[in-house]
Amino acid sequence: MRRLFVAALAAAGLAGVLAHDSHQVSRRKTLGFGPVLPNAAYHTNPVYHTSLLRASSDPFEVARVFVKDLVRGIPGSDFVIRKDSYTDEATGVTHVYVRQYVNGIEVADGDINVNIKDGVVLSYGDSFFRPKDSTDMFTAASSSSDPHSEYCQSLETEIANQLQHLDVHKTGERSNALEQLAYLYEWNCKFVDAPEFLADHPDFAAAEDAASGDISRALLQFMLAATPNAELQAQILDNPKKFIPEMRVSFQHHHHTDQPFFTVENVPDTVNPVKGRLAFVQVPQGDSTTLQLVYKFEVEMQDNWYETAVSAEMPHRIISVVDWANDSPVPLAPVPKEPQSATYRVFEWGINDPSLGDRSIQKENFDALASPWGWHALPVANDPSSSYLSAKDASKIRNTTTTWGNNVFAHEDWEGRNNWVNNYRPDAGPRKAFDFVYQPKKTDSEDALEEAQKYINATVTQLFYTSNLVHDLYYRYGFHELAGNFQQYNFGRGGEENDAVIANAQDGSGYNNANFMTPPDGQNGRCRMYLWNTANPYRDGDLEAGIVIHELAHGLSIRLTGGPANSGCLGWGESGGMGEGWGDFLATTIRSNKNYSDYAMGSWAANMEKGIRNYPYSLNQTINPSTYATLDKPGYWGVHAIGEVWAQILWVVSQKLIEKHGFTEDLFPPKPLEDGTIPEGDFYRKAEYTSDGKRKPLVPKHGNSLMVQLVLNGMKLQPCRPSFFDARDAIIAADKTLTGGENFCDLWQGFASRGLGVDAAVKGRTPWGGGVRSNGYAVPAECQNGDVPPPADPAPGDGDDDGDDDDWPWLQWVVEKTTVFSWSWPL
Ligand SMILES: *[C@@H]1O[C@H](CO)[C@@H](O)[C@H](O)[C@H]1NC(C)=O
Ligand SMILES: *[C@@H]1O[C@H](CO)[C@@H](O)[C@H](O)[C@H]1NC(C)=O
Ligand SMILES: *[C@@H]1O[C@H](CO)[C@@H](O)[C@H](O)[C@H]1NC(C)=O
Ligand SMILES: *[C@@H]1O[C@H](CO)[C@@H](O)[C@H](O)[C@H]1NC(C)=O
Repeated sequence: MRRLFVAALAAAGLAGVLAHDSHQVSRRKTLGFGPVLPNAAYHTNPVYHTSLLRASSDPFEVARVFVKDLVRGIPGSDFVIRKDSYTDEATGVTHVYVRQYVNGIEVADGDINVNIKDGVVLSYGDSFFRPKDSTDMFTAASSSSDPHSEYCQSLETEIANQLQHLDVHKTGERSNALEQLAYLYEWNCKFVDAPEFLADHPDFAAAEDAASGDISRALLQFMLAATPNAELQAQILDNPKKFIPEMRVSFQHHHHTDQPFFTVENVPDTVNPVKGRLAFVQVPQGDSTTLQLVYKFEVEMQDNWYETAVSAEMPHRIISVVDWANDSPVPLAPVPKEPQSATYRVFEWGINDPSLGDRSIQKENFDALASPWGWHALPVANDPSSSYLSAKDASKIRNTTTTWGNNVFAHEDWEGRNNWVNNYRPDAGPRKAFDFVYQPKKTDSEDALEEAQKYINATVTQLFYTSNLVHDLYYRYGFHELAGNFQQYNFGRGGEENDAVIANAQDGSGYNNANFMTPPDGQNGRCRMYLWNTANPYRDGDLEAGIVIHELAHGLSIRLTGGPANSGCLGWGESGGMGEGWGDFLATTIRSNKNYSDYAMGSWAANMEKGIRNYPYSLNQTINPSTYATLDKPGYWGVHAIGEVWAQILWVVSQKLIEKHGFTEDLFPPKPLEDGTIPEGDFYRKAEYTSDGKRKPLVPKHGNSLMVQLVLNGMKLQPCRPSFFDARDAIIAADKTLTGGENFCDLWQGFASRGLGVDAAVKGRTPWGGGVRSNGYAVPAECQNGDVPPPADPAPGDGDDDGDDDDWPWLQWVVEKTTVFSWSWPL
């Protein structure tokens, strides 16, 4: 099967793309697939017996009783309220995350998230396993669906579709999009026909130590699929026996449950010991699911950080894989009296890239709420470079004069490797004046890299400045410690610590991209920014704020969706696509101003006016024709294209709110007063109080700030692995909680104008853009007054599928872009 397909690719000049690899571009191998659970649902108007819950005012008790009733009668099933659940002071909503156990074993994708306010269940998502037939709860791996081959089949279909519409021989052009897909195929599907090699391997018929032998085999099987290193793959295939004894498995026992979990050392191509545990995952069986026993592994590699489920039975099949890497009045800590604030020569916040303004001296934005100690101080005890200090120093605060602080560690990574603590970072001296030269000059092309490295001081400074402002901004809209944000020290406000963002400037592992790794709360996020060789002098992604904002938004959306400790909720398909879309939406919103304009993503770095997406974000249907049903078009297979559709829809919805509520030039809420109260300023509406004198959550006054708030609140409300419908419903639910639903019809009209109305539908949804979608332009009955906007154009092009260019917007894009630069993964 695969062989035939590879032959077809060869005919199109697309096979063996790996063979002409050039180190000039960044090609990060990444895997992401898994089943779509037919039983998963998100309910925004839950119906339940309130009498059930009246007993308690403790939201966690309410959740416990609610979930208990919800899951009554599932044989052998129990549940645990996860400890990353939290009450959000900003909204008054308690987000409770619940994990299912069957026969004492965790169901890794059995999730319930319940959103509770004032004792009322506002909404909940539910993907708990419920057997259709209690005698048939478990299915042998060998007789059920195989997500890895389904992924590869869907990739084949997409490539075939694109080949059909691109006459390679006639134009002599190979399209970027197609080449990317061929690359994915070559990389990710190479071993799909031989997934059982270890299970069948004669040398392993009887493992000496059954338990750890199985773990090592399953893991090696995964590494075969995951490693980008062809030499290593050959070695594994040739002599797996060499690797197994070297992989050391150690068991521990989890303090909460009896579930053993383990670590595996010396796993080839990893950079840290692999963590693992035994668990169930669900696989679809008709409209319900069955359980399969798997090893859940957390595999940290140079360019990937995988969470994967590999079947624990033979044939060691990969069931799902998520890459945590993506190519997005609180008690105040004592504020120092007269903090010496740092200054930076940078492109000011709001200047998206060097083409749009000059650098100027900016002050450390000392947001007493988000960064109480500023950007350059952290406790010695939480300082990764201080481990050599004696215990008596541990309670001290370390103040730095470099780009090293509580939220962000920024530095060069020319080597492109995983070390970072001792990498070079500029030192601005005791005055903390980060004022460095940036004068890129045109050079001979072989000197372009060296030329860019000359301004490393300026570029690390910019990355540090932008990343800290993004930290502070997201914080003020609710990405705080309890919600799982990225900080070394949490000021006693809860959440897991020691997870500031490691930000690599001019990362040497690639060109023309950027990526972000988001492990669960308590482990550092990693942002890698690259140079772009799209122009001479090279362009530096660190200087394009939109790219940095996009990357950091991966950390935001992954930590907020499904809870801080669950990084597997936006792994693929529509969920993964929205993970890209939120980043574009936030980048575009942050750079926009009162005078409406269209914006393209990454146009400076990529040196392309129309940017790195198919279309600029625009209200104009001709300029950006994306609608919900666009997801069914060829070229919309991957998360970036899906994300572009989502970002465009959010952009249109946002403009609706701006029309109604106006626009604020400053997205930062006012700083808190000394007693910790946040003043309304011109930012929030006048505060309202409950009958017992408590201040209600503040509501942003303007359309753009309100939209950002609703988008972030929506992320917290939506279920793990959300669909477009779920995320839309969560934003509408967020408005109901925050404003009492005053924007209900505006939001629906915005979504409906791009096909995501109440009658939008999808049939047979599978991951990776499968299924058949239809646009729905209808709004709820209560919104149908006289002036409903007329339905928008149904789809890009002339509405038929007769094979015109206009039916395939990607084609036009491909033809325009291929000539501009060789190849890159979009970020
Ligand atoms: C370091 O900074 C903290 C917080 O800004 C301040 O309280 C402390 O006095 C500073 N320590 C030194 C040695 O400057
Ligand atoms: C970077 O700044 C330091 C001072 O912190 C200076 O000594 C060094 O020469 C600068 N590096 C470059 C490449 O300009
Ligand atoms: C918006 O447009 C007006 C009129 O052209 C101009 O004066 C103003 O500076 C613009 N504002 C911004 C923020 O670009
Ligand atoms: C939308 O864009 C097209 C193409 O640029 C232009 O011809 C048309 O006038 C625009 N429509 C509106 C309403 O601005």
